[in-house]
Amino acid sequence: NENKIILGIETSCDETAAAVLKAPNRVLSNVVSSQVKIHSVYGGVVPELASRHHLKNIVPVVEKALSDANITLDDVDCIAVTQGPGLIGALVVGLSFAKAISATRKLPLVGVNHVHAHLHAIYLEHPSCPFPHIGVIVSGGHTSIYIVRDAIQYELLGQTRDDAAGEAFDKVAKVLGLPYPGGPIISKLAEKGDRTRFAFPRARLAETPYDFSFSGLKTAVINTIRKIKNAGQDVPTEDVAASFEEAVVEVIVDKAIRAAQEYSLDTIVLSGGVAANKRLRDALETEAQRRKIQFLVPSPLLCTDNAAMVASLGLEMLKRGITIDSAADAYSRAL
Ligand code: KG4
Ligand code: ZN
Repeated sequence: NENKIILGIETSCDETAAAVLKAPNRVLSNVVSSQVKIHSVYGGVVPELASRHHLKNIVPVVEKALSDANITLDDVDCIAVTQGPGLIGALVVGLSFAKAISATRKLPLVGVNHVHAHLHAIYLEHPSCPFPHIGVIVSGGHTSIYIVRDAIQYELLGQTRDDAAGEAFDKVAKVLGLPYPGGPIISKLAEKGDRTRFAFPRARLAETPYDFSFSGLKTAVINTIRKIKNAGQDVPTEDVAASFEEAVVEVIVDKAIRAAQEYSLDTIVLSGGVAANKRLRDALETEAQRRKIQFLVPSPLLCTDNAAMVASLGLEMLKRGITIDSAADAYSRAL
């Protein structure tokens, strides 16, 4: 395994990505082709369009990953590909392509869980991050808390019952008349807003304290906007954005800290697209520090969908002999 070269491929949602990793953790290339512009017109990801664009992009993206890394397919020792969860039609493009390379080149093929890959991304930059630790994944598709026992053991503590955190940002942006994806725009507006102006609900879910629910919050925001509009007033967009963001951040921070304390773990790792949110990072950092908990977050390019994280977890699975064959199917939901 010393100098193995892994080609990672990721097509679970709206990013076509390929990366080359040299063991143990040198990223030789990391190519991400985003379809955000294509889907933004529709206010969200359109699965059929995503599949078609993956088909169009997969060959050039993999070729660019190889050329950026200054290698050819002859140098590759293993293919790691996202097998699920995600959009089935999107996953199948990457998986079929990976199977084809694996078969023609006689290379081992590893099927990687996308969420586990997000949780593992931290090891590309912080190889000494301890096991076990609390892993928090917040993206457009997932909001979950895990105990990460080692590279291949992920114990789910709780997850969202309805919308993912990023999805809530995107939906609130939509009702505020803002473009997709809404997360970055809302957080920009929130910087100038009053975080206490509206007391939006925080779903604590006492019975299942590590589960999340953002649909009540979304409805509360929509009702507030409607009331203001019906009264003939202007919507204070910045204050709505700030109060909404505060409600999301507070719930995620509370649950992450609670998990670390309950399980006596002294490291929290945050990842996923919403980890780009400055307020969330700052608040979690502050609360963690106060309790002598280490807080780690990958750099932005490794937080959002990418194939370097897939290659990285793929390498760990390869070491343990966890490979798949040409009969393996993609899976849409978490296993
Ligand atoms: O991980 P990601 O790139 O894609 C997946 O969902 O897998 O996450 C995208 C999500 C979008 O919902 C986007 O609105 C959100 O991350 N996002 C943010 C911020 N930047 C991206 N949400 C809040 N604040 C941000 N700064
Ligand atoms: Zn993702």
